[in-house]
Amino acid sequence: MHSTVTETPVITTTGLTKVYQSRGRDITALDGVDLHVREGEVFGVIGRSGAGKSSLIRCVNLLERPTSGSVVVDGTDLTALAGRGNRAGRELRRARSRIGMVFQHFNLLSSRSVQDNIELPLEILGVSGAERSRRALELLDLVGLADRAKAYPGQLSGGQKQRVGIARALAGNPKVLLSDEATSALDPETTRSILQLLRDLNRQLGLTVLLITHEMDVVKTVCDSAALMKQGRIVESGTVGELLATPGSELARELFPVTGDASGPERTVVDVTFHGDAATQPVISQLSRTYNIDISILGAAMDTVGGKQIGRMRIELPGRYEDNVVPVGFLREQGLQVDVVDEDLPAEVPAQSNGAHGAALVKETVK
Ligand SMILES: Nc1ncnc2c1ncn2[C@@H]1O[C@H](COP(=O)(O)OP(=O)(O)OP(=O)(O)O)[C@@H](O)[C@H]1O
Ligand SMILES: [Mg+2]
Repeated sequence: MHSTVTETPVITTTGLTKVYQSRGRDITALDGVDLHVREGEVFGVIGRSGAGKSSLIRCVNLLERPTSGSVVVDGTDLTALAGRGNRAGRELRRARSRIGMVFQHFNLLSSRSVQDNIELPLEILGVSGAERSRRALELLDLVGLADRAKAYPGQLSGGQKQRVGIARALAGNPKVLLSDEATSALDPETTRSILQLLRDLNRQLGLTVLLITHEMDVVKTVCDSAALMKQGRIVESGTVGELLATPGSELARELFPVTGDASGPERTVVDVTFHGDAATQPVISQLSRTYNIDISILGAAMDTVGGKQIGRMRIELPGRYEDNVVPVGFLREQGLQVDVVDEDLPAEVPAQSNGAHGAALVKETVK
């Protein structure tokens, strides 16, 4: 089954700002965040520690009340409803039952069985015992734990605990699932299986997923769209395809790094990106023949990003960029995306970003 992403916005934040007061100091965790998550997509927010990711997700379901700005989920302006956290008013509680939340440390009650953990949100919603039990067993089946209903959290592996956490998040039949670092306490193999589960639920149930992570691999494996957060702001966002087609995009470079340094001065280094099964090899040799130049391949990689095959190659042409305007134009005419890596420019990319070895990417418009 294919996921269907529609243009209908399911989560929209506008000018979302959160300022915490800590020991008489103001800490701006969110600084005017405009986020748009479309129906049916898996949207990843990535950023370093302290960027404001958790603050964002906690403001989206009003666990935290934003300092200013608005949050609209599935057509309801949550910021207009009264209360917050445990003191949410009735309407906010009802709206929130349509938003599932998955936590990094699972947050299961150790004194309750797996089934009773899943039934908890249904008890709070006033669902009858028989219906609760039916629903809990159905959800356990959905997350692949049908035989562990009577077990206690202490008897489960991390991956199984997170499956219970996901089942519990789905109890209220949410339209939206929020996940804050759901896999960062898990080993790589378990991470993959949990991500696959989130992807399957997204497709089977048409569930919109907003996930927060600091791992690029998570974005790469499951996300349709992504945003990069820095210091409380979203500095880049778009579908994975759009990001990869944006020259100079930091997310694109980290989603799909290709490295290699120029072999000397007076060389032009360019990154060539191709989508699908368009092969670069013939184009490169054609380029070499047409302009009678020697081309070195400094680095190359093929990968699947957002379910699509992408290739990237870093090549070196003799001479400076001014001497290579025509060959670069030739590559672009072949429909390839070309980013020129300019070693002469001062690095405008922060030093910690990997991929381009501190070289700045010349921002040019690609047709
Ligand atoms: N309850 C709070 N009181 C005061 N400051 C807070 C509070 N929660 C978060 N902050 C501060 O707000 C900023 C953003 O924190 P946040 O937890 O949203 O970051 P994060 O991106 O989720 O980081 P991490 O990847 O480490 O989880 C940080 O400077 C943090 O110290
Ligand atoms: Mg966090």
